[in-house]
Amino acid sequence: MKKWKVGVIGATGMVGQRFVTLLDGHPWFEPVCLLASARSAGKKYPEAVGAKWAMSVPIPEYAKNITVLDAEADAEKLVGNVDFVFCAVNMKKDETKALEEKYAKLEIPVVSNNSAHRGTKDVPMIIPEINADHLSVIAAQKKRLGTKRGFIAVKSNCSLQSYVPLLHPLLSYGVKNAAVCTYQAISGAGKTFETMPEIVDNVIPYIGGEEEKSEVEPLKIWGKVEGDGIVNATAPVITAQCLRVPVSDGHTAAVFVSFEKKPTKEEILRAWADYAGEPQRLALPSAPRQFIHYFEEDNRPQPKLDRMTENGMAICAGRLREDNLFDYKFIGFSHNTLRGAAGGAVLLAELLAAKGYFD
Ligand SMILES: NC(=O)c1ccc[n+]([C@@H]2O[C@H](COP(=O)([O-])OP(=O)(O)OC[C@H]3O[C@@H](n4cnc5c(N)ncnc54)[C@H](OP(=O)(O)O)[C@@H]3O)[C@@H](O)[C@H]2O)c1
Repeated sequence: MKKWKVGVIGATGMVGQRFVTLLDGHPWFEPVCLLASARSAGKKYPEAVGAKWAMSVPIPEYAKNITVLDAEADAEKLVGNVDFVFCAVNMKKDETKALEEKYAKLEIPVVSNNSAHRGTKDVPMIIPEINADHLSVIAAQKKRLGTKRGFIAVKSNCSLQSYVPLLHPLLSYGVKNAAVCTYQAISGAGKTFETMPEIVDNVIPYIGGEEEKSEVEPLKIWGKVEGDGIVNATAPVITAQCLRVPVSDGHTAAVFVSFEKKPTKEEILRAWADYAGEPQRLALPSAPRQFIHYFEEDNRPQPKLDRMTENGMAICAGRLREDNLFDYKFIGFSHNTLRGAAGGAVLLAELLAAKGYFD
């Protein structure tokens, strides 16, 4: 079977390292270029990443001999050598936007983890199980960019992957509003316990920009493609508080929800158990077989025990019960650098490949 050749921009970072690991032996994608800032360019990948390597497995063999390129200065070198790139960089928003558009205009599709283009109305923001149909807006984006095959597709913020997939199968009951409190892992800030010692024995009650993303991005995901863009949904109304907690990987969400037409507990559990999207129907390589896993035990899901459910790609839930103020409350959970970042982007790329967007 043909393999698509891939570059990873931001390969030395926390999310980039996940890409480097997930692409090792991937059945469809062959990583051939690793890119980062000018600080890393010219070095072999192990030297460039150095002590920042934070994965539980060693650097894959294929990556050891790759010389890191400068994502800005060396972009043209990728033309004809890769079929698409993943992008996860820590740069200013306008610089990230410009970098991603540069690659798209070089006719290299960009599958991005960055937030820079999430609000751009002709850039689809995809959770593959939920809004795969939004890929149709890429045609309008290509027209704007003047490209034949170059485009940008993004995944959403990691925080909301712990509750939007759990609210989505319930939309037919008219989700009116939801209050969410997230307990977010330090890898979401690109950190480990070594590089973020201040989090040990502590909770930090602020993550810059996260609450806005957690409230607004779901409305784009639930929006509709109309004309040359995506028109956001206006409901459900979500209010969020986001806390950083001393957990290495995995974001937990405490969720309260009210409905127009209150379902029974059994109906909610059945809707979660039965829910499947395009990745399951297409049997994409990184798709969890069961999208939502409900735990009956009162003390689950837990980051330490449950973060690797279905290779870190499943959404976990537990403690569903009625509430005094809202209709129901429950706990949601997802792995922030797998489902919430690199894994979600690899799944999005598999969806794009399956639908012919890289041909
Ligand atoms: N961590 C998560 O859970 C998570 C989840 C969802 C989305 N994201 C998003 O993913 C992106 C990356 O996050 P991260 O946690 O992986 O950050 P990170 O660990 O700080 O890594 C940042 C990467 O960006 C590269 N970079 C910085 N400046 C650059 C430049 N001027 N040109 C090219 N490359 C440059 C760095 O290269 P050098 O090593 O050469 O400096 C490094 O590879 C961010 O937009 C973040 O918001 C992260």
